[in-house]
Amino acid sequence: MQTGTQTGTAIACANIAFIKYWGDRDSLLRLPANGSISMNLAGLTSLTQVAFSESYAQDTLNLNGEITGGPALFRVIQFLDLVRSLAGKNLYAAVESRNNFPTQAGMASSAAAFAALSLAASHALGLNLSEQELSRLARRGSGSACRSIPGGFVEWQPGLDDQDSYARSIAPSGYWDLVDCIAVIQTTPKRTGSSQGHSLAASSPLQSARLADAPRRLDICRKAILARDFEALANICELDSNLMHAVMMTSSPALFYLEPASLEIIKAIPTWRQTGLPVFYTVDAGPNVHLITVKETAAQVIEKLKQYPSVKSVYSAGVGPSAHLESDQS
Ligand code: DP6
Repeated sequence: MQTGTQTGTAIACANIAFIKYWGDRDSLLRLPANGSISMNLAGLTSLTQVAFSESYAQDTLNLNGEITGGPALFRVIQFLDLVRSLAGKNLYAAVESRNNFPTQAGMASSAAAFAALSLAASHALGLNLSEQELSRLARRGSGSACRSIPGGFVEWQPGLDDQDSYARSIAPSGYWDLVDCIAVIQTTPKRTGSSQGHSLAASSPLQSARLADAPRRLDICRKAILARDFEALANICELDSNLMHAVMMTSSPALFYLEPASLEIIKAIPTWRQTGLPVFYTVDAGPNVHLITVKETAAQVIEKLKQYPSVKSVYSAGVGPSAHLESDQS
């Protein structure tokens, strides 16, 4: 290692939102228009290494093995500026980040990446942040990243300002053996990223109704998780996902993330449930469909998904841990 180099390496999971974040109250601070609840996805991770050094003349980003510039680098630089100002240090950094799942295709790659970057960069610069402080920091990189800091089932309280908008665990990873089976329909980056999507949410006449009802949905979802009530969770999550997509489709301009292949699967799920299979769907800002089931029936759900010619691959993930340094076991 070169003299004057400070490094940190961290791992964070992607997460799937049960109650979605869609729309910002403050896009700079990434304060969300509503609270959200998610589950961390074990094994779908971002491994991020940051090295700050006096010998670097600029910040660099290596994403999945490729030197990356443009908007992705710009976003990372803005984030590093924040960490540098917190630490009172003025060193450039080399960031290397690798996801083990498709980047930017509605699989929360930015959540895993910015959660890992928050921990790796703050650790490298000697900041010893609490979970709450890390979650607040990660939020500034990507809103949903604040939910990848704590472990298990996580709720992001929207808060009123930078200080009180962060996520906390509502149940640990071992609390309930849910599995997310992800039907990958498309792996190419989406045309409209989430950040742009959030800024359009308020243009939908349906967004105010979605927001007004959010506390009720959050309450039902939180209680369903704590009671391990699959049916209650299924009903509220499908409603929440549909509400978000209704807002997307009625924004100006309209955003369509669902593809015919996504709908084909979504429409089949009630029938699968009627046959006794515990399963429900939820879809983020992309066409890939997340089917949540329990450990005992995950193999069955995966098999059924593989029957669809439009499904390119299926990933599955149980409930994941908190973001952690590579050297940590947690
Ligand atoms: C549909 O957290 O990706 O996945 O803050 O602009 O990075 P930025 O947005 P992001 O938005 C996530 C949107 C969602 C729903 C969710 O995860 O809650």
